[in-house]
Parts: sequence; structure tokens; C-alpha cells
Amino acid sequence: MDISSILQGGYHHPLSRQWQSKRQLTKSMLMYPIFITDDPDASQLIATLPGQRRWGVNKIEEFLGPLVKKGLQSVILFGVPMKCNKDHRGSPADDETGPVILAIKKIRSLFPDLYVACDVCLCEYTDHGHCGYLHPDGTINTEPSVARIAEVALNYAKAGAHCVAPSDMMDGRIKSIKRALIDNGYGNKCTLMSYSAKFASSLYGPFRDAAGSAPSFGNRKCYQLPPAGRGLARRAIQRDVVEGADIIMVKPAMPYLDIIGDAAQLAPDHPLACYQVSGEFAMVHAGAAAGVYPLRDMAFESVDGMLRAGATLILTYFTPDFLDWLDN
Ligand code: PBG
Ligand code: ZN
Repeated sequence: MDISSILQGGYHHPLSRQWQSKRQLTKSMLMYPIFITDDPDASQLIATLPGQRRWGVNKIEEFLGPLVKKGLQSVILFGVPMKCNKDHRGSPADDETGPVILAIKKIRSLFPDLYVACDVCLCEYTDHGHCGYLHPDGTINTEPSVARIAEVALNYAKAGAHCVAPSDMMDGRIKSIKRALIDNGYGNKCTLMSYSAKFASSLYGPFRDAAGSAPSFGNRKCYQLPPAGRGLARRAIQRDVVEGADIIMVKPAMPYLDIIGDAAQLAPDHPLACYQVSGEFAMVHAGAAAGVYPLRDMAFESVDGMLRAGATLILTYFTPDFLDWLDN
């Protein structure tokens, strides 16, 4: 055989196989999405998200303590209001006595080294379940939506969030949040992570069960991106860079590795996050339960794809598992 035909000599050993990757998963790349609800003592399993729970503020120490010991370095909070009064403007989002603000303060005091990011959106808190304000005809009313989202983001920053991450997909919200942070003295104290290329995906189902954020009518296709819309995703990424995003995110991850690759090329000087969303997590679990593959192998394979595409930060419900798996 010709000399140049032989590749196997280069990867016959487990160590030389590791050298084939440009980057490998480390604990610092993992951001764990967690659900905080307004019953302070809650610990409710979420049926469609294997092993994940809605936690009350009083349970945060027993929930996160062991993970922090294993090397958990960052979380992203999602509020799950059960008892509050939802309205057209999503008032409970930044209620001082609501689960998100209370949880930020609690986590900051319990775990001073843990990085706390907050998802910013209105859909968990609006009576109609959409991510912004609506016109009477049901379409998005952009200007007041963006102003309200910036207000919520600022209030999370004031409560102590290290990072705010708007997932609403309203046009112009990055600029407006950045302005609000700067004008109020948080420009150098709070990171702005944009869900820049967030697609209208079928993979958010378990999350919407978990968070009670399914829209009461219609869908999100007029603000989240069409799955085939690569050009739109590229434009959204470039726009959010210009508007002041500190981190760019692509979401979901697995079916959108080309978009992660595009983002790595369009925003080469930014950290690049991707979100392995609820439906991806459920899908990987379902395949393992069906005997298609061992869970651990597929979980690593899924993340290897994201790293190869260029992600430097991964939001995943597998975080607690990876903390164990990376140790042995
Ligand atoms: C809310 C939001 C969603 C997710 C994160 N923030 C759902 C949606 O847009 O309907 C999805 C996360 C997941 O599926 O894990 N805007
Ligand atoms: Zn939303």
C-alpha cells in the first residue's frame, strides 16, 4: 500500500486518539440550566426531562452544593412561576419576591465562586405565553417588548447576576439591554450573552412543560428563526455582535452544527455558546433507553460535534453527568 494511504498508525492508542481533537470538553465549558419555582420547598421531577427538577429557593443548597463540590462552575436560571398572576407585560419576571431574583441572591451568597447567568424572557410570565408584548392582532409589538426586556435584564444584573441572556428574539434587544446596563453602572459588571441564532425548533417541548411557557395561541415562528434559514442566522449573529453582545449563542445545537461553524467564523473573537436543549437531551436519553447506544458514549459524541464546530461554552442538562464522567 502507498505510504500516504495509511492513517491508522496515528490513532492506535487511546492517548494518540485524544490528540486528534483540537479541543476537549472541560468542566469550565459547562453551563447548567436550572429551573427555580415559587414554592420555596419544591423538588418536583419534570417528567419529560429525565432526572431534572423544579427546585424551590430553600432547596438550592442541597441541590447545587454537591455539584459545586464536583466542579460545577456556572448555571443559567429559569424562573417557573406557578402561583403568580401573569399579565400582558410579564410583571412577575422581575418581581423582587419572585423565584429568579431570590435565587440569584441566594446562590451568590451560598456559592460565591459560582457564575450565575439568567435567562431573560417574558414567556414564562405573560398571560398569553409569548416572549414579548402583543398588538391587538396578536403580532409582536417590538418597541415596548424590547424596553421591558431591557428592564428585566437590568433588574437581574442589579440582583447580582453575572450574565444576562435574552432568549426572546425581539429585534434590537441586545442594543437596548447593553445600553441599560451601561447607563446604570453595570456595563463592566454584567456579561450579555445573546441567544443570537435561536431557531423555531420542535426540540423545546420538554422545556415548555417544565417552565409552563407554551404560547396560549399560535407559535413563535415570527420571531424565532426558520430552521432552514441559514442566511438569517448569519445576519442575526452579525447584528448582535454589532449591538454589543459579549457571547454569541446558537440554539438548538445538534441539528445546527453548521450554524455554530458559521458563528465561529463570523464572530471569531467572541466566546461561542451553544444550547443542547431539552428535546435534544430527551432524545439522547430516549435512544439510550431504547438500547440504541450507551448514554455516556452518545452524550460525549454529541458534545464533541459542538466543540468541533467551534463552540467554547455548552449549556446542557448533562452537566451533572459530565462532572462525574470527566472524573473517571
Ligand atoms: C424561553 C426559552 C425557551 C428555551 C430557553 N428559553 C423555550 C422557547 O423558546 O419556547 C428552550 C430551552 C430548552 O428547550 O431546553 N424563551
Ligand atoms: Zn420566551
